[in-house]
Amino acid sequence: MADQYAQSSEDKRPTQIPAVPAIRWDDPPEGPVLVLLDQTRLPGEEIELVCTDAPALVDAIRRLAVRGAPLLGIAGAYGVALAAARGFDVDEAADSLAGARPTAVNLAYGARRAQAAYRTAAASGADPRRAAGAALEAARALHAEDAEASTRMAAHGLALLDELLPGGQHRVLTHCNTGALVSGGEGTAFAVALKAHREGRLRRLWVDETRPLLQGARLTAYEAARNGMAYTLLTDNAAGSLFAAGEVDAVLIGADRIAADGSVANKVGSYPLAVLARYHHVPFIVVAPVTTVDPGTPDGAAIEVEQRGGHEVTEVTAPYVPVAGMEAGGGIPVAPLGTQAYNPAFDVTPPELVTAIVTEEGVLSPVTAEGLAELCARSRQV
Ligand code: MRU
Repeated sequence: MADQYAQSSEDKRPTQIPAVPAIRWDDPPEGPVLVLLDQTRLPGEEIELVCTDAPALVDAIRRLAVRGAPLLGIAGAYGVALAAARGFDVDEAADSLAGARPTAVNLAYGARRAQAAYRTAAASGADPRRAAGAALEAARALHAEDAEASTRMAAHGLALLDELLPGGQHRVLTHCNTGALVSGGEGTAFAVALKAHREGRLRRLWVDETRPLLQGARLTAYEAARNGMAYTLLTDNAAGSLFAAGEVDAVLIGADRIAADGSVANKVGSYPLAVLARYHHVPFIVVAPVTTVDPGTPDGAAIEVEQRGGHEVTEVTAPYVPVAGMEAGGGIPVAPLGTQAYNPAFDVTPPELVTAIVTEEGVLSPVTAEGLAELCARSRQV
């Protein structure tokens, strides 16, 4: 069955890397800015969005112009550095950035880390300019650490795939978007698939479109195409029949928050994949940096799941590109006017459905609270 999807024109594109980085700090004469690749415009246009203050960044975060857990952490840290460098209230900026979206714990982690660096420098007598420099240094360190974590997760993740599926030409299903667009490096789950591709061991990447905002179709397919990977897009609803046909060897997803008990919050639609994977005896693997583990959240029930506007479901659009003359989200209505919609951005998968959690510190399998605590302790010792 798989061969009918292996269109050679698609599979033999030269390897490319995204030309425009997802995030960069710039320091023109008019003053420092944070430059984002506007993800709401992909894959059609590679347009940069320039933020000069924290409120602009908060808006970009809420509109998903910048998104994905690790990148949100990096953005939060740079946002605090930006406020400091431009002489705004650093604590106010850190609070607004940390709370811009509730589920991805990395966002608050990044904002608070840069805030702490600023405060420590200020408390030891640094003037505001030097304290701002300390905040920027913290943001740059987090950015670099995330790139390094990405490389290590890819190595651990591919070793795990090879162990679980010996001799494998892996057929991997993924959900949402977890590549260079969400990372200081090449991502989390996507980085594992990319490494498999580069080493000749990826037979196919199955890409869920990821309704309602289509991160799979718009972003993961964009990254897979740019990297010359063999990929096929499917509607989220088609995953069941793909498993039933025996076409999936492993599921690889990222995470927005991992609770202390190993419960995993990720893009809505991840939990049904975990249930399908268990029924079909397919490994369900979560790939995330240790910064996504939140020891302060005891279990899945304690994870705040972001609820988003119903118009994302009742209309079809690139997320927030306004279309003149249209109301609400500015998209094309696909339901009768006034229809109520249920639109959680994430769902929570219990640890017993997760085969393994891959971090830069190594692989945890089975997933237990004790194992997770040990992994975090190891990371925080370094
Ligand atoms: O709402 P988004 O697009 O920010 O959601 C992103 C996801 O759910 C990703 O899968 C998750 O952040 C992991 S990214 C490595």
